[in-house]
Amino acid sequence: MTDADPSMRVNSGISGLDEMLRGGFFEGTANVVSGKSGTGKTIFGTQFLVEGAKKGEKVMCIITSEESKSIVKEMKTSFNWNLEEYVNQGLLTFVDITDPSLRLQKSVEIAPSELIKSFKKLVESKIEDIQPTRIFIDSIEALFLAIESNYKLRTLIDDVFSVFRKHNVTSVITVGSMFGLDEMVEYGADSVIKLDRIITGNNLQRSIYIMKMRGSGTINEVRVLNISDNGISVLAQSPYLE
Ligand SMILES: Nc1ncnc2c1ncn2[C@@H]1O[C@H](COP(=O)(O)OP(=O)(O)O)[C@@H](O)[C@H]1O
Ligand SMILES: [Mg+2]
Repeated sequence: MTDADPSMRVNSGISGLDEMLRGGFFEGTANVVSGKSGTGKTIFGTQFLVEGAKKGEKVMCIITSEESKSIVKEMKTSFNWNLEEYVNQGLLTFVDITDPSLRLQKSVEIAPSELIKSFKKLVESKIEDIQPTRIFIDSIEALFLAIESNYKLRTLIDDVFSVFRKHNVTSVITVGSMFGLDEMVEYGADSVIKLDRIITGNNLQRSIYIMKMRGSGTINEVRVLNISDNGISVLAQSPYLE
């Protein structure tokens, strides 16, 4: 093995998006996918992991709330993606931080910042154990919502993201629009992809754009995000034009 090439791109697995990213995410970066509920964040992150697993890469999915627990079932009914099979093949590892045995529960006795430090330690040890190439965290807000000081929040977000950079794992991290937390998370990210819903006439369309990507040019257009039985794809068309 040679040293990591800092310009190595990791393809997203989402058709049409890699072109917008000029090849994909940079290896070992923290990439935030931001948008309201139902805009496609969970599907995006899962598709990113499935892309790796299909190529025989080891991938990891970190679940942080009750909401994401049904991911295996939903991805099966939506797209017939069999995540359990990847788990059985040893390619996909789930880390569910709501699992009581991990003792990462929110409680009155534990300060929120201590919880995040424990989370960071847990993720780091899992990364060292499994050595995944891709990580998906669905989603980050459950972890950070209780932090009251924005300064502290910045530091803790940087702390968590630095783990991925240090271990050269390419990560996709989802964040919902909540109390300005999304903006803070976006600050610390290497790239930010924004998902949204747009109503044109009687049509509801999903949209996608790249808000930022450190170290790279991108296609600066809002495009249509299409969800079908095959998953997500990005169309080379604007949701605003007829
Ligand atoms: N097979 C499918 N075809 C079209 N749309 C789908 C399909 N499966 C799911 N969806 C849509 O995707 C939405 C969920 O996307 P999801 O990634 O869970 O959003 P988020 O994580 O941002 O809340 C569903 O509410 C549904 O509208
Ligand atoms: Mg979701």
